[in-house]
Amino acid sequence: MTYQGLIHTYGHFLDLPIHSRTVSLLEGRTPLIRADNLSRHLGGGFELFIKYEGLNPTGSFKDRGMTAAVSEALGRGATTVICASTGNTAASAAAYAARAGMKSIVLIPQGKVAAGKLAGAIAYGAQVIQIDGSFDDALTMVVEITNKHPICLVNSINPYRIEGQKTAAFEIVDELGSAPDWLCLPVGNAGNITSYWAGFKQYSGLKSALLPRMLGVQAAGAAPLVLGHAVENPETVATAIRIGKPARGEQAMQAAEESQGRIIAVSDERILEMQKLLAKLEGIWVEPASATGLAGLAAEIESGKRRPEALEGLKVEGQKVVAVCTGHGLKDSEIITRDMQKPSVVPPRLDALEEVILGN
Ligand code: F0G
Repeated sequence: MTYQGLIHTYGHFLDLPIHSRTVSLLEGRTPLIRADNLSRHLGGGFELFIKYEGLNPTGSFKDRGMTAAVSEALGRGATTVICASTGNTAASAAAYAARAGMKSIVLIPQGKVAAGKLAGAIAYGAQVIQIDGSFDDALTMVVEITNKHPICLVNSINPYRIEGQKTAAFEIVDELGSAPDWLCLPVGNAGNITSYWAGFKQYSGLKSALLPRMLGVQAAGAAPLVLGHAVENPETVATAIRIGKPARGEQAMQAAEESQGRIIAVSDERILEMQKLLAKLEGIWVEPASATGLAGLAAEIESGKRRPEALEGLKVEGQKVVAVCTGHGLKDSEIITRDMQKPSVVPPRLDALEEVILGN
């Protein structure tokens, strides 16, 4: 049977009101790719899989939650959706609103959104508004305006976003036949870690044997959950997770605690290094934020080896690890091209080409 999208496939597991009218771009069903080269590079002895969420219709995992949120909004007669965004939510909201015949308004932090995301939001017809402030300021503003006006909020504060995003956990369990031992993923506003944990718990029917441990990873310059307090001026190269006051921070902490996992932070340097490593070793190019979960995994494995007697660090031998790669590298190509060496230019002659390739 042809694939008909997430609500069609998993709707019976999602708590969506009956008034919902499905709006879908056939999101989901993203590949779970074995990453043996990277696993070996990290010391080997464990199975590593990449859940490649950048292959959703608008290039990020946000489409899972957006099909649910926009379907609910359309079904109850809403005509306009709004969100604050570091870029991916904006593009996704704009696309699903377009498909539903609704208007979309997106608030983004000025100058801090990758070009591919901004272009997406514009292409899908959103009204794009830059805020001279952070994502956190923009989120406060959209909450305020939706309390006052009949505009539907589609940030992950919206419970249907969480419902839709649970489907990624369902897909992983369906494909592996059980939950992995560890799930590592980036944490920004903390909707995704909340969704995965809810999804795993629901799908496993609360059998603890089937639950993964969650490794949530923040960027060191935007790590409120690691520091234990809000960060006023978050800063990181991973602009998607440049967030200082995560809306679902408490739930993220709870997911880490209940799963006997943890939330850690990694430097921008490590994030960019992992982004390149994943592309070079596996042919999977993701945006910087999306390499953050794997960067955290690498850091934990290293510290486990350095101090094997300590409880810190991660012992992955013999385990199954799934790393969620949330968005496509094409969204933020500038991060690669800005420091790249320009490709060499040769005249259109065979001898010149030979000289460059063979060096003679
Ligand atoms: N990875 C990417 C590529 C993201 O765009 C985001 C969030 C995250 C990870 C973190 O997910 O917020 O659920 O913890 N991006 C939001 C946005 C904030 O506006 O697109 P989270």
